[in-house]
Amino acid sequence: LKRIGILTSGGDAPGMNAAIRAATRCAIYKGLEVIGIRRGFEGLLEGDVVPLTSRSVGGIIHRGGTILRTARSERFKKPEGQVEALDRLKKLDLQGLILIGGEGTFKGAWALYKKGFPVVGIPGTIDNDVAGTDVTIGFDTAVNTALEAVRKLRDTASSHDRLFIVEVMGRNSGFLASMVALASGAEYVLVPEIPSDIEKLCDKLYNARRQGKTHSLIVVAEGVMSAQDLALRLKDTAGYEARVTVLGHIQRGGSPTAFDTVLASRMGACAVEALVEGKSGVMTAVQKDEMATPPLSVAWEEKKPLSADLLSLMDMLSI
Ligand code: F6P
Repeated sequence: LKRIGILTSGGDAPGMNAAIRAATRCAIYKGLEVIGIRRGFEGLLEGDVVPLTSRSVGGIIHRGGTILRTARSERFKKPEGQVEALDRLKKLDLQGLILIGGEGTFKGAWALYKKGFPVVGIPGTIDNDVAGTDVTIGFDTAVNTALEAVRKLRDTASSHDRLFIVEVMGRNSGFLASMVALASGAEYVLVPEIPSDIEKLCDKLYNARRQGKTHSLIVVAEGVMSAQDLALRLKDTAGYEARVTVLGHIQRGGSPTAFDTVLASRMGACAVEALVEGKSGVMTAVQKDEMATPPLSVAWEEKKPLSADLLSLMDMLSI
């Protein structure tokens, strides 16, 4: 192993830069050359690359986004695209590739692995929906970003005795929504993993009012329904008037928290070590506080469950 590549793909997540920095410096420390591939699989197909040095990854540990930029590539999903990418990796004289992203990125990595190319994935997504690892890079920062916003909404909700609905990201997963709901003291959370029960939500709001609560917060993951649609449903079902806020892509940006920065640094180094040890088709993971390297395929073969304890705690504490 002489030369390895690094790319980021899919939705960006705070901490990706810290992972790029850690992987680059760990690889250089171990005597390897590092090439950054821009714009994920799309950039790989085009040969859009940049050498990474200890200096060129300086000053990025605290920066959100990804200096390598990212894309969602349709071309790479086709078998011809994957053959072309493999060709490109060989032309670039790379003997290993580190891919930072979520499930879609890992499926792409798996295709290269199946063709015999050494790959290691690093889970980076604000959704935290990658099975095999307890936590993904970016999740903690997104929770904190959303929490800061929801706390501000709580201030004005309480001044005006209002009901607020906050829509957070999460097309297919409710990790972000449930964590934000618990941390913000919301009355109710709607997540894609659990069928939504508007009647139950209205009962909860009614009981809260009867017990003297003058304002309420509902957190909804975008994958369930839009905050606007939920407001209409509440109006139709029980006559409730709600103010609506959509947090959107704010949740994907910003400086990574200390937790995400440390996690990204550990995962970046772990990915290089895995390649050096001859591992491939694996991801870096944290399992009960220990680093691990389970197969990439766990990401789509298993579904990471939402913590039932966390949801029932939220329910109990929101009376
Ligand atoms: O996967 C991360 C994520 O932010 C999801 O929570 C969200 O549904 C999606 O990406 C949005 O994707 P895009 O930035 O392409 O609109």
